[in-house]
Amino acid sequence: MSRTKMKSLVFLLAFGGVVTSFAASPNPHVDKGLNSGGCRSCHEGHGVSGSPMLPTGQRDLCLQCHGSPGQLQAMVARGLVSGNARPVQMDGVLGFASVHPISEKAFSRRQQGVVTCTSCHAAHKGSAQAPSQDEPSGQRRVSPRDATEFEFSLCQGCHGSGGAGTQDLLDISRLLTPENRSFHPVEAPAADGSPSVIPSLSGREINCTDCHGNANRGGPKGPHGSPVPFLLRANYTTADGSSESPTVYALCYRCHRREMVLKQSPFPEHQAHIDKERASCATCHNPHGSVGSRALIRFGEETTVAGVSASMSTGRLEFVSDGPGSGACYLTCHGEDHGPEAYGSMKSLLEMLGREGLRRDQRFEPARIAPTRGMDLD
Ligand code: HEC
Ligand code: HEC
Ligand code: HEC
Ligand code: HEC
Ligand code: HEC
Ligand code: HEC
Ligand code: HEC
Repeated sequence: MSRTKMKSLVFLLAFGGVVTSFAASPNPHVDKGLNSGGCRSCHEGHGVSGSPMLPTGQRDLCLQCHGSPGQLQAMVARGLVSGNARPVQMDGVLGFASVHPISEKAFSRRQQGVVTCTSCHAAHKGSAQAPSQDEPSGQRRVSPRDATEFEFSLCQGCHGSGGAGTQDLLDISRLLTPENRSFHPVEAPAADGSPSVIPSLSGREINCTDCHGNANRGGPKGPHGSPVPFLLRANYTTADGSSESPTVYALCYRCHRREMVLKQSPFPEHQAHIDKERASCATCHNPHGSVGSRALIRFGEETTVAGVSASMSTGRLEFVSDGPGSGACYLTCHGEDHGPEAYGSMKSLLEMLGREGLRRDQRFEPARIAPTRGMDLD
């Protein structure tokens, strides 16, 4: 921190009351009725050298009040937080199997390549909205750091094309963009719609945190940690071989009616694959989107899962579809060749045109697949 900045910080801490924008804010952190120490609840003297006057790294700092009941009591005893305050206790959640790699030592989100609490939170401003409900609301949430941007922008700041340079993260923004052939409706309402979606979400939008967060209901909300891999809010088995049940694919069934997925879907082979063949949803669907295919189908994209490969008879790996209820799959899965297998009106098209005639919509044809004869199906 620069010398002048440090000076003004010393001034602010000594005369914190004059910072009216802080005093007028509804943020519990600068409400003396709750954080009775005021600025000193978090800042201390000059703090550790080079830090924004903080006595410890941020994770430990926040956990002094948001860690365990014992830690909170110690802060109450020091007069830094009111005995009436009920800051959410986070200790357990940060120890789950799937967590954000929150730095043990970082003081500031401005440090290179770190994830820290203020990467997603504004300690002085507080969140602009109430904690989310258990059920998805169908509305976009704003970033807890900055009420002028949507939550997905916050997340894509690191999980997007402008991602944290030091990490090898999948570019989620590339999958969710409405320019794709299909996408879950995070950035814009869905292009095609889904008959199985619960009525309250039809035509509506969802958030990253409707899927990513703590699977322990009643525990702290947010994408800090979850017992379920990929930091998911409900169970989701990505490997093939499980017997279908409401819990195995609970994540999808929060928003898509199970009976309809299995028995009344535009894909008539759902039950045969999911139930009898024990294929996971993840084998066919990417949960975020598909650059070139309808219905979030991941065949032929960089995110194709192990176990699925090009059709042995044609060398093609793709999903061709001209609309809901009609499609053809070119692939090999567990040694079985689909060269292709078709359903709906694509079956009769296949008979008419032959398998070479079935082509994906040219507009979404990935560049590496050579342009061919055949018809443009859209
Ligand atoms: C809940 C804990 C907490 C409280 C209470 C708090 N701060 Fe901070 N403050 C922080 C943290 C954490 C940072 C470092 C943020 C970063 O760089 O990521 C910080 C950074 C700062 C900075 C450096 C510039 C900046 O915004 O990053 C100033 C100035 C500052 N605080 C002033 C104050 C004043 C004045 C008060 C009292 C009105 C106050 N703080 C109360 C946690 C707190
Ligand atoms: C000195 C105690 C203390 C420290 C240290 C502290 N908090 Fe808090 N925090 C509180 C209190 C008190 C509340 C409000 C609880 C209530 O409503 O009863 C709160 C509420 C919150 C909330 C929910 C309300 C909102 O505005 O979103 C978040 C998020 C939060 N804190 C994040 C943090 C982060 C991040 C840090 C570290 C930079 C931190 N806190 C450090 C005391 C603290
Ligand atoms: C990757 C982004 C991210 C990071 C890093 C992060 N949080 Fe959060 N946090 C969120 C979001 C988003 C929410 C809102 C969740 C909701 O309402 O569903 C939240 C909610 C909270 C809440 C309120 C929980 C509740 O049940 O109401 C607290 C307290 C909190 N965070 C503290 C922290 C602390 C302390 C740290 C650092 C140890 C931290 N957060 C790091 C994104 C993050
Ligand atoms: C400051 C950068 C940053 C921000 C902001 C951020 N993340 Fe992350 N996230 C990371 C890093 C780093 C990892 C760890 C990547 C790794 O292990 O390869 C990660 C991992 C994840 C994972 C995978 C966890 C696992 O166990 O596989 C999910 C899911 C995730 N983040 C979702 C989110 C969501 C949702 C948001 C917005 C609320 C968000 N992230 C915001 C940096 C960030
Ligand atoms: C938080 C709610 C939510 C969850 C969880 C969820 N979805 Fe969706 N899904 C939606 C919404 C909303 C739509 C768009 C429906 C509409 O507007 O008609 C949708 C659409 C879809 C579509 C059709 C997309 C298109 O454009 O053709 C598929 C396929 C899909 N979801 C599969 C899944 C799978 C697989 C899972 C589990 C990994 C899942 N969904 C989990 C809310 C959700
Ligand atoms: C409809 C539910 C859903 C939504 C919405 C969603 N995700 Fe995911 N995400 C998943 C599932 C399921 C997985 C793991 C399974 C898979 O990749 O097949 C996952 C995996 C991830 C991973 C780990 C990728 C890897 O392969 O290691 C990251 C990072 C991530 N999501 C970030 C985000 C971000 C950021 C957003 C919002 C911009 C978001 N997700 C929105 C369901 C969702
Ligand atoms: C063998 C591949 C495959 C598997 C496994 C699979 N799906 Fe699908 N799914 C499809 C295809 C193909 C479509 C497109 C149907 C159409 O529109 O013609 C589809 C469409 C959908 C749709 C949109 C239409 C609707 O019914 O609302 C949803 C939602 C969906 N699948 C959810 C799931 C869930 C949840 C699972 C796991 C429990 C799953 N799928 C497993 C291939 C699969």
